[in-house]
Amino acid sequence: MKRRQPLRIGILTAGGDSPGLNAAIRAVGKAAIGEHGWEVVGFRDGFLGLAQDRSIQLNKGALSGILTIGGTILGTSRDKPHRMMIDGKVRDMTDVIVANYKKHRLGALVCIGGGGTHKNALRLMKKGLNIITLPKTIDNDVALTDATIGFDTALGIAAEALDRLHSTAHSHHRIIIAEIMGHRAGWLTLAAGIGGGADVVLIPEIPYDSQTVAAAIRRRSKGTANFSIVAVAEGALSRGYAAAFAEASERKLHAKTDEDRMRIKAELHELDFKHAGNTWRLAKELEELTGLEARVTILGYVQRGGTPSVKDRLLATRLGTAAVGFINDGVFGVMVASRGGGVKAVPIEKVAGNLKIVPKDHHWLETARRVGTCLGD
Ligand code: F6P
Repeated sequence: MKRRQPLRIGILTAGGDSPGLNAAIRAVGKAAIGEHGWEVVGFRDGFLGLAQDRSIQLNKGALSGILTIGGTILGTSRDKPHRMMIDGKVRDMTDVIVANYKKHRLGALVCIGGGGTHKNALRLMKKGLNIITLPKTIDNDVALTDATIGFDTALGIAAEALDRLHSTAHSHHRIIIAEIMGHRAGWLTLAAGIGGGADVVLIPEIPYDSQTVAAAIRRRSKGTANFSIVAVAEGALSRGYAAAFAEASERKLHAKTDEDRMRIKAELHELDFKHAGNTWRLAKELEELTGLEARVTILGYVQRGGTPSVKDRLLATRLGTAAVGFINDGVFGVMVASRGGGVKAVPIEKVAGNLKIVPKDHHWLETARRVGTCLGD
């Protein structure tokens, strides 16, 4: 049964920016205006703009010429509705957001984001708002979708960086360690490592042993290749760190008092803090263990910037237009997922808090091993 068409729909982008966000905004806007004559309101800087009632009218003019532009014309932030820094104080702005949604007479709110956005979207959905989400992140770690907006572009950038790093590694007989984004998921590093021909690929899902990595590099040196490219995810963990994290996380899970939980949380923060700089430590270790010079290149935000790939534009346009179709049909509380070449509405409850990491038996891992890539285990 078709629902009454909403007069206005809202849209926001939240979490880290990624290529393809504007393509998604454009797709939602063009289909909403062109097919249904709806009004589209964009909220600035994620949930923060919705709480502060900062919005712009997204008319045809505003949506024109943005398909190929990186970032998001709306701005983004990692602010959470229930814990927002407002005038120097942390406040729960959930009710304010609900009030602003009503004030704007929204029939639906489209939230484009990754893991954090889905948790926030779920909260708002439980408050009765008509929410629909689109998955975006260069990390590709959103559950129940084959692809996320931004991943393909970042993959192209990271793989090209590895290609380029080969020249210097080869000419100077060095180890070059490229740090690739991905805090808890190794999709980007693994795919770029395979596509960019890295000799070693280290991802968060497989704790590594520096001795194993060094042995692989030494084996290459003894052959004809006196250089190595190491692709390391920012969240890759040595076996020692991984064991310490796992042990503290387990204790936190079984903590009996709030006091214990807070103390262990602080321990975990401390471990996180120590983990920063891990790539530099790895470089030093590998120099010592192999006798080769090592250099570090941190790709950082370069991976999130610039023009989206055509594949990301296509994905964003497919998902964005499909979102409008679901709104028109009165289907809410869902993420528009890319599945098997088509789209599927997946309940937000099943996505929120459910990180998609590289499974141990994923065929990309097998692929990497079969071309002799060391995965550090
Ligand atoms: O989620 C995308 C991502 O780029 C991660 O790969 C990275 O860990 C994180 O965002 C960095 O976040 P920020 O933009 O807040 O520095």
